[in-house]
Amino acid sequence: MPERERNRRLVDLSAIRHNVRVIRSLVPYSARLLAVVKADAYGHGSAEVAAAALKAGANFLAVATVPEGKNLRMKGISAPILVLGESTAREMETAAFEDITIAVSSVEDIRMASEAAEAMQKTLCLHLKVDTGMGRIGVRTLEERNQVLDAVNRAKGLKLTGVFTHFADADGEDAAYTDLQLARFHEMTDDLPSDVIRHCANSAAILRRMPECAFDMVRMGIVLYGYPPVATDADFQMAMEWKSRVMFVKTIAPGESVSYGCTWHAGRETRVATVGCGYGDGYHRAASGKAQVLIHGVRVPVIGRICMDQMMIDVTDVPDVQVGDAVTLMGREGSECISAEDIAGWAGTISYEVLLAATGRVKYTFMDED
Ligand SMILES: Cc1ncc(COP(=O)(O)O)c(C=O)c1O
Repeated sequence: MPERERNRRLVDLSAIRHNVRVIRSLVPYSARLLAVVKADAYGHGSAEVAAAALKAGANFLAVATVPEGKNLRMKGISAPILVLGESTAREMETAAFEDITIAVSSVEDIRMASEAAEAMQKTLCLHLKVDTGMGRIGVRTLEERNQVLDAVNRAKGLKLTGVFTHFADADGEDAAYTDLQLARFHEMTDDLPSDVIRHCANSAAILRRMPECAFDMVRMGIVLYGYPPVATDADFQMAMEWKSRVMFVKTIAPGESVSYGCTWHAGRETRVATVGCGYGDGYHRAASGKAQVLIHGVRVPVIGRICMDQMMIDVTDVPDVQVGDAVTLMGREGSECISAEDIAGWAGTISYEVLLAATGRVKYTFMDED
């Protein structure tokens, strides 16, 4: 991290490529690999991650919205892109123009998509979303499905190229709900032509439900970033580190307090370092009182409440801490490691939210060993 900086995320693109290759080894070769790069690739940087994933063998990309897909096109990504969520009429026009595939869930979606395709004089590719139990978007019955398929057949400028569903509990203890969703997916899609690709597996299903959930494609989400959501022997690598710096150091007397609300008091003479990162950078304030960071390879506690722009750490037992020293908020130092899952545990949330929480103040560096 450059010397004068206070806040930077370092993304290792060789870890992304490594993870794609590990997933490739777990998934039947007949299934394509889709890299989920929505929400700026789970906070990792969508264009860079997309390019790395494609280089390592991913065949398809997925985003949440058409603007996210357009952003990838503007950065020169020409691979197939699927929008996983619903799109507005205007977004459908952009999708047609940019050759982006959209998800559709209703006859009304088909009407809008057809108008968009005609307006742009382009063919708009569609993946039908089937709601097998997530309760979010998608057709829910065979009758609804048939109405949508009829509408596609009657409409101009549309091509149904895929059909998919999303599991609600593939990482849960009990497989029963995923079994039910899988059975519904079969019921809703088994009779479709073979050139309509079928996909349902998220990271948890990739790790737990191969080959039965492979179908024609799998969707690599959190696991692509090195966070398998269920136990596995496979060797995934965390792709992101988050570093900050010591901005100030002082010694306080026993009994003195640190930060808002005076929730923490020194039990001994304490060396306190102030770190240049807070919830204004995306570090979860809810982790106050539990969070730890690494400095000089040593794990130390964050003391008192995490502020908007700063947090304080107890460095009494770490010799020689100086202003400017690097602090690892997430990542490795020697044998110590802090993961997004650790921060999520302290903050009472999930790793996904920690990974993509960085605000615009945090700078990014992409590393690539190739
Ligand atoms: C439709 C869809 N597919 C795939 C994924 C990837 O899920 P995961 O990150 O758990 O692999 C998501 C994530 O939210 C999603 O919404």
